[in-house]
Amino acid sequence: MSEFKRHLVTAALPYANGPVHIGHLAGVYVPADIYVRYLRMRGEDVKFICGSDEHGVPITLKARQENVSPQEIVDRYHAINKKAFKDFGISFDIYSRTSNKIHHEIASGFFKTLYDKNIFIEKTSEQYYDTEAQQFLADRYIIGTCPHCGNESAYGDQCEKCGTSLSPTDLINPKSTISGNPPVLKETKHWYLPLDKYEDFFKKWILEDHKEWKANVYGQCKSWLDQGLKPRAVSRDLDWGVKVPVKDAEGKVLYVWFDAPIGYISATKELTNDWEKYWKDKETKLLHFIGKDNIVFHCIIFPAILKTEGSYILPENVPANEFLNLENDKISTSRNWAVWLHEYLEEFKDKQDVLRYVLTANAPETKDNDFTWKDFQTRNNNELVAILGNFVNRTLVLTNKYFDGFVPERGSLENYDKKVLDEITEIRKKVEYSLENFRIREALKEAMNLARLGNKYLADTEPWKIIKQDENRVKTILNISLQITANLTQILEPFLPFSCSKIKTFINFNEVNWNLIGNNELLHNGHKVGKAELLFSKIEDNEIEKQVQKLLDTKLQNIANVSKLEPAKENISFDDFTKLDIRTGTILEAEKVPKTKKLIKLLIDTGIDKRTVVSGIAEFFEAKKIIGKKVSILINLEPRKIKGIESQGMILMAENSGGVLSFVHSEGEPENGSMIK
Ligand code: 2FM
Ligand code: ZN
Repeated sequence: MSEFKRHLVTAALPYANGPVHIGHLAGVYVPADIYVRYLRMRGEDVKFICGSDEHGVPITLKARQENVSPQEIVDRYHAINKKAFKDFGISFDIYSRTSNKIHHEIASGFFKTLYDKNIFIEKTSEQYYDTEAQQFLADRYIIGTCPHCGNESAYGDQCEKCGTSLSPTDLINPKSTISGNPPVLKETKHWYLPLDKYEDFFKKWILEDHKEWKANVYGQCKSWLDQGLKPRAVSRDLDWGVKVPVKDAEGKVLYVWFDAPIGYISATKELTNDWEKYWKDKETKLLHFIGKDNIVFHCIIFPAILKTEGSYILPENVPANEFLNLENDKISTSRNWAVWLHEYLEEFKDKQDVLRYVLTANAPETKDNDFTWKDFQTRNNNELVAILGNFVNRTLVLTNKYFDGFVPERGSLENYDKKVLDEITEIRKKVEYSLENFRIREALKEAMNLARLGNKYLADTEPWKIIKQDENRVKTILNISLQITANLTQILEPFLPFSCSKIKTFINFNEVNWNLIGNNELLHNGHKVGKAELLFSKIEDNEIEKQVQKLLDTKLQNIANVSKLEPAKENISFDDFTKLDIRTGTILEAEKVPKTKKLIKLLIDTGIDKRTVVSGIAEFFEAKKIIGKKVSILINLEPRKIKGIESQGMILMAENSGGVLSFVHSEGEPENGSMIK
């Protein structure tokens, strides 16, 4: 499949300042794992590298918040994440960490090599300093307003809202995140990588030679190159990180984005004595799987470091995904707005493949996507259970019932049988094409089409109806269904490794080899298959409601953390007050307005009529749970259209100091239509 002799696949090293969540998984680790499993099945020589990124301000900030050492933080999250990845089936060949001695040696060696080659510009400049904390304010130690999008909490290195890479002095109204004070400027010396000198190289290497890169990656690189590259500081005034290995560099460490990608190299060296062939031989295909916020570092800064060092290869491709949101809101570690992998694994035991499936089927490959628990439930129940589980189950139940579990011999083939068998090879080709172009989501869809095909084949041929009259035909149908089942264990293995192992146990089949796909004789006549056991189980509403409630609680907690009581409003006249016609009513119907975060459409019995009201309460209440509630409703508010629905009034709610809404009536009384005066 490839002109390369071997592959080195890296997955972005997650910061060890918190647990891994579904956004990380969908963006980086699940697609990378699928790709690597596919390569391994093809017999390729591949190493899959990852580990914890343990330096940088995210770590020291977290340590400061908890009043513990940075080492304690990284030890904690390295252990949690390493275990969670393993339990989730992310098949790294090594999960290392950048606080390892070997990494400090290699990263510092890189800096020294570049320094000795006179690559760096040494420059003293004024940088922000917190006089109270007596510390320079690098990267995330400083926040302020983003000059590009107006986000008031942009960091000194990057605005997470618009994705722009920033320097601290770009921020409007900068503030120290340690003391909250505005910083002062103070002189300090740093080493800069002169990216501007390599601009022509990058223009050719990326814009001309790598037009095949994903549009989001290519586009971001182009916009960087169009704006012109500038020298970039690769050291920081911090006491946590890899020490700058030159004279007069007291209190200075390497910028985390200088050392972290070198972590891929250190981890490879830790893994194998043969590490150099993976990093220095042109016959190695180097691939970096990352999230979109890492594009510039992997496409420009790290390659610039590798190129100036001189003996390393550059990446062939950098498949970056966009972001995954959660229930319509940006995933955020600090706001606890996430589904954490280690918690998922505890709460959904043995359901690794369900999450792998949902995150792949809805992967944010070309645009940001949204994860919802409802979609998780639907995909499990309607796709994994109803299509894949159902097909495998029916095939095995029927084989056991009619032929005592022995694979029956097939007789002469009808056109339909031939078409079905040929289709397996066609599906394989499509899956390969999609995977090789990093369209993992499309690849999964194609692979699942084989299960769809099997289901349809059984539904169309109805062996249970003809077993009495035509046993030979049933033998053929079940033989073909069993061959499809065996093929499924191969084609779905990269995506759903846990389930494929189970199916293989059911059918007593041990192979893992991509080249078997399309083979119609994977299970020989007379081979004995076992009984079908549970592959996927239905996820019930209450399991999903529990997760949605957990998120609602988080939202309430976050609101309570930031908001305060509103001051009293200006006085109004009694006449003004009497203009309001407020009645009591009962909610008769309630449904969430599709594609909105906050709106619920209500039908309310006001005592004098029944009317529709659109209300912004969905963040606090589930629609079906508020049916029957008593409300106060302002009925003479001029009707207005909200999302195309005419709202004929407004229900009155109590909003507490935390911004949390509640109903103002208890159940039952007063009777509908009572006037509130
Ligand atoms: O964005 C992040 O989470 C970084 N820790 C990724 C680093 S990738 C690599 F360069 F190490
Ligand atoms: Zn911005």
